[in-house]
Amino acid sequence: MSTHKSVLLQEVVDGLALKPGETLVDGTFGGGGHTREIVRRYGDKVKVITIDQDPSTGADITGNFRDIDKLLGETKPDAILLDLGFSSDQMDTSGRGFSFQKDEPLDMRMGQSGPTAAEILNSWDEHAIELILRGFGEERFSKKIARAIVSRRKIQPFATTFDLADTVLSVRPRTFRDKIHPATKTFQALRIAVNEELSALEKGLEKGFEALKPGGRFAVISFHSLEDRMVKNFFRDNRKEGKAELVTKKPITPSEEETRENPRSRSAKLRIIKKI
Ligand SMILES: C[S@@+](CC[C@H](N)C(=O)[O-])C[C@H]1O[C@@H](n2cnc3c(N)ncnc32)[C@H](O)[C@@H]1O
Repeated sequence: MSTHKSVLLQEVVDGLALKPGETLVDGTFGGGGHTREIVRRYGDKVKVITIDQDPSTGADITGNFRDIDKLLGETKPDAILLDLGFSSDQMDTSGRGFSFQKDEPLDMRMGQSGPTAAEILNSWDEHAIELILRGFGEERFSKKIARAIVSRRKIQPFATTFDLADTVLSVRPRTFRDKIHPATKTFQALRIAVNEELSALEKGLEKGFEALKPGGRFAVISFHSLEDRMVKNFFRDNRKEGKAELVTKKPITPSEEETRENPRSRSAKLRIIKKI
């Protein structure tokens, strides 16, 4: 059973405004919460095709939404949903090292290919590591942390989440003023790098929009500013070129009640466009 709490559930389902006979592609199936709510609301009046790069989710198609055109073949969807990032199930039970709360192998791959987080930390040069931490984590101590990572790996290569969390703490001990654990941004940055999340989003937006039928809706939930900027600019450019209209002029964000019940939803932003 999934422990993942879907974000902006009703807002997504309302915003997609599905009609009988339409096909939705849920490109980030995860714990399946959004798809379940759609099935609850529409029954078999709409068709849902689910994709996830993590085979353990049980999605119809295992694959990366960056290849959505190839994954869908001839299918032209009426709506696409991307709910970015990782799920609580991956964090809590995958054993792949997404959380600094538990000592697990430092893998962080949501899919099955590419280098693990440990391999990146053990081989990339100091400057490249610093750039990831600053660029994808907006980590203020990126330089110091990158230096500490490189000195540590000379003595012992990184293998587990605690190796990394301890290294960050050696540079930035936790103080009573910290609202979040000092390793939070480092873990986020590394996850984005391991899964090449920004380039996947760029491709997924382009190819997903192309695949949509005219009149089709594209809904994206993002969780940090780099992603949201990319979605916002992509939507805006298509509107300017007369290819789309904005369904959401401003991003939809969770209610106070939702953020209280699900702190993970805090930074969520939902944007939707309609292809002309
Ligand atoms: C936030 S969760 C989705 C939760 C889901 N909407 C729900 O309500 O349960 C994100 C999911 O997207 C998947 N994912 C992230 N990036 C992906 C990509 N580029 N291609 C395919 N799946 C991706 C992750 O493996 C994860 O299962």
